[in-house]
Amino acid sequence: MTDELPGSEPGRPTGEVWLVGAGPGAADLLTLRALRLLRRADVVVYDRLVGPDILDLVPAETRRMFVGKMRDRHVCPQAGINELLIELAQAGQRVLRLKGGDPFIFGRGGEELEALAAAGIPFQVVPGVTAAIGCAAAAGIPLTHRARAQTLIFTTGHTKDGELELNWRLLATPGQTLAVYMGIKALGSLCRKLIEHGLAAATPAAVIENGTYEHQRVVTGTLATLPDLAPDPRFAGPTLIIVGEVVGLRTSLAWFAGLAPALGNPGQA
Ligand SMILES: C[S@@+](CC[C@H](N)C(=O)[O-])C[C@H]1O[C@@H](n2cnc3c(N)ncnc32)[C@H](O)[C@@H]1O
Repeated sequence: MTDELPGSEPGRPTGEVWLVGAGPGAADLLTLRALRLLRRADVVVYDRLVGPDILDLVPAETRRMFVGKMRDRHVCPQAGINELLIELAQAGQRVLRLKGGDPFIFGRGGEELEALAAAGIPFQVVPGVTAAIGCAAAAGIPLTHRARAQTLIFTTGHTKDGELELNWRLLATPGQTLAVYMGIKALGSLCRKLIEHGLAAATPAAVIENGTYEHQRVVTGTLATLPDLAPDPRFAGPTLIIVGEVVGLRTSLAWFAGLAPALGNPGQA
């Protein structure tokens, strides 16, 4: 296996940026390419959701820079991150920009690359296992299934001024699975709106916290019951919501118990 990625220019005097997905948490879900580049980088610029076991794989002599977001406060605003990446690369550094999950799924990877492209900085992109894929696998929920879901939608539940602005008619279509990122604060209104727009109140739904980690927790219910079973304050870690008939398959397909303490409801595992 060669150390160069397609498109890399061996011996390049100027720096470059490698935009790399770290996956949803468990270190052994990192790709081999990501691991190879982690060992070659001069500096790793990373986000909050990059797991500690993955940071342990960064060589001790490699510089690390945390630019993550704590709750609603950015340690470094996006424009500052873009500038930092450009400055480091212009100084000749091989910069590994490490993001949780996949950099192109709700990760602002596109924005960072636009800034790099405008500044003439060469870059590479390494995909990662996105949270929806990792959480679904670890929770025993197949995201598609011939008899239950022919369409899969990744959406954000992030609110604007406290309001969820989503295409409800599209989202409330039966026969599909919704994977909702950043939606726990708006879980009640998400479930209510889906019912209002036509999904059955009995549609199965799940919240997965810390997906793929040993301390993963899963709460299952229905659109009608989940907001009470899984209220926002119960979760300190990242959470993903899955809605659709496929969630019901977990009853027979759950395979990963995790080590988390019980949340105290029958849907939890
Ligand atoms: C800013 S988005 C970044 C998504 C990331 N780029 C990806 O592809 O997974 C952060 C959201 O991803 C979800 N997430 C990331 N890691 C997760 C995990 N291990 N378990 C559950 N949800 C996770 C949560 O909804 C979290 O609020």
